[in-house]
Amino acid sequence: MFTSTTESVPAPRAVPRHVAIIMDGNGRWARARFLPRVAGHRRGLEAVRETVKACVERGIEFLTLFAFSSENWRRPAEEVSVLQQLFRAALEQEVSKLHEVGIRLRVIGDLEPFGETVAGLARKAEALTAENSRLTLSIAANYGGRWDLMQAVNRMTREPRPAGVGYGERDLARHLALSYAPEPDLFIRTGGEQRISNFCLWQLAYTELYFTPTLWPDFNRAALDAAIASFCERERRFGRTSEQVSAAARGEARSEDAMAAFLGTSEPDESGPRHG
Ligand code: FPP
Repeated sequence: MFTSTTESVPAPRAVPRHVAIIMDGNGRWARARFLPRVAGHRRGLEAVRETVKACVERGIEFLTLFAFSSENWRRPAEEVSVLQQLFRAALEQEVSKLHEVGIRLRVIGDLEPFGETVAGLARKAEALTAENSRLTLSIAANYGGRWDLMQAVNRMTREPRPAGVGYGERDLARHLALSYAPEPDLFIRTGGEQRISNFCLWQLAYTELYFTPTLWPDFNRAALDAAIASFCERERRFGRTSEQVSAAARGEARSEDAMAAFLGTSEPDESGPRHG
């Protein structure tokens, strides 16, 4: 799939199609309870489960979670080890449940340092769930936006190409780890920090950014709904003027009304979201 917010303006939507999340604040959640940091990560996995369910309920098509960054290796060895165990256990225990409800799982990042067992479990889970279409859940593990851009550039430039022909967005985008997904509409970072932290650098070009002080283990349906509500209030201009956005929304509304009249199904609905 190739869609690019710098090449064309995506259709407006009331619910984000793709949500990408930096799950931050596990350590602080644990510290506030006089627990070891790893207890925060364990509770964080429960928040992952609840968020996945909430995304399915809300009709979100793609959810991308930053579970372990290329830079997280800098953490104490014990914490890195627990994060790896959690990841492995999740792959072993959660995949069949995801498959049962029609979720497609993808794991993005350089899995080699995790070892053959984890890499094998990830590839097996991807194969098992490949045909599912309810929600695509992407787990970023040993992932970094710069790593992704570099591996894509390397793969792109290794391909044979007529001399003197330049590269376009499309040439690069199809080698990116998230090549199968549209760019995120909504980026959420929990834990109060306001940074992108090397996540989805290419894809966040026109994504709406939402930062919340809620610590990841406390993130739940209501917190997701608050993020979606904030998203719905944004005017997504993609480089256009506010007047152009309003005119496009009026055009959209007219064509929806014309379709309803043609089908004879319903009265024109003036109350629905006219999200720009
Ligand atoms: C950031 O909080 C969180 C992480 C680095 C790991 C996220 C992992 C999980 C939520 C559990 C595993 C998930 C999957 C999908 C297997 P932090 O430790 O930086 O918190 P702090 O900023 O309060 O110290």
